[in-house]
Amino acid sequence: MGNSLTGRHIVVTGAASGMGHATALELAANGASLALWDIDLPAASALATSLRDQGTNCLALGVDVSRDAEVAAAMQQSVAHLGQIDGAFNNAGIGMPTTPFETLSEAEFDRIVAVNLKGVWLCMKHQFQHMRGIGGGAIVNNASVSGLVALAGQGAYTATKHGVVGLTKAAAVEGAAAHIRVNAICPGAVRTPILQHLEQAGITEAALAGMSPQGRIAEPVEIAHAVVWLLSKQSSFVTGAALPIDGGWVAQ
Ligand SMILES: NC(=O)c1ccc[n+]([C@@H]2O[C@H](COP(=O)([O-])OP(=O)(O)OC[C@H]3O[C@@H](n4cnc5c(N)ncnc54)[C@H](O)[C@@H]3O)[C@@H](O)[C@H]2O)c1
Repeated sequence: MGNSLTGRHIVVTGAASGMGHATALELAANGASLALWDIDLPAASALATSLRDQGTNCLALGVDVSRDAEVAAAMQQSVAHLGQIDGAFNNAGIGMPTTPFETLSEAEFDRIVAVNLKGVWLCMKHQFQHMRGIGGGAIVNNASVSGLVALAGQGAYTATKHGVVGLTKAAAVEGAAAHIRVNAICPGAVRTPILQHLEQAGITEAALAGMSPQGRIAEPVEIAHAVVWLLSKQSSFVTGAALPIDGGWVAQ
């Protein structure tokens, strides 16, 4: 267990599953107190209970990140419980059916934009308002290799993730004077439930592994380690970056 985040108070969105869950465990192991936000409150609460049993100061909140009022209320409750919020991993996101972009319905397009792009903006909006008042903070947004390159049949998802990278750069520029660092991570394929959208279209794990020169997909903890570093003072001069964590996928 490291202690690079002792005394820090960090929000994790989408904390109930996948990379959010793995990152919450690593942040706790590095000494952080946590606010776990997820639309799936029972699963987030189960994680919070287990972390509290191991000595982490932690609360779980049911939040739909696409709704301003819910994000604002969650931020208020998190600050009330933890005292302040000086870090965030804005990770909540959804996948989509693999289909040519011209066949996607308007409702599907609107929902993926609402969660994956607007959700990151709403979280950062309320995090910035708070962090400006406490002298700064660090934010990591979960984009994807789809924020850097396109995957056929994933047009709306690709657009939202390119949007997250753009929003990250804008926020980094705006936040620098207020000592708020903002970075994006761009994972390749990671073993989480979201991959079912690709599997349903016949895109197998072997096919995803073949996208990366390392010839494999990642485990969620490999992404969590990068998030811990980006939220810690060890990365103090890193802001506005979109970091591929992809076994070399986008280097080709
Ligand atoms: N798994 C991959 O291969 C991969 C690769 C690159 C990027 N990503 C991105 O990583 C992030 C995490 O995904 P994951 O792979 O861990 O998937 P996951 O499905 O395991 O976890 C996503 C979590 O987000 C929560 N969530 C969904 N909609 C929400 C909402 N409106 N408000 C709050 N919480 C919500 C879910 O309940 C779930 O706990 C997503 O943004 C995803 O786009 C995933």
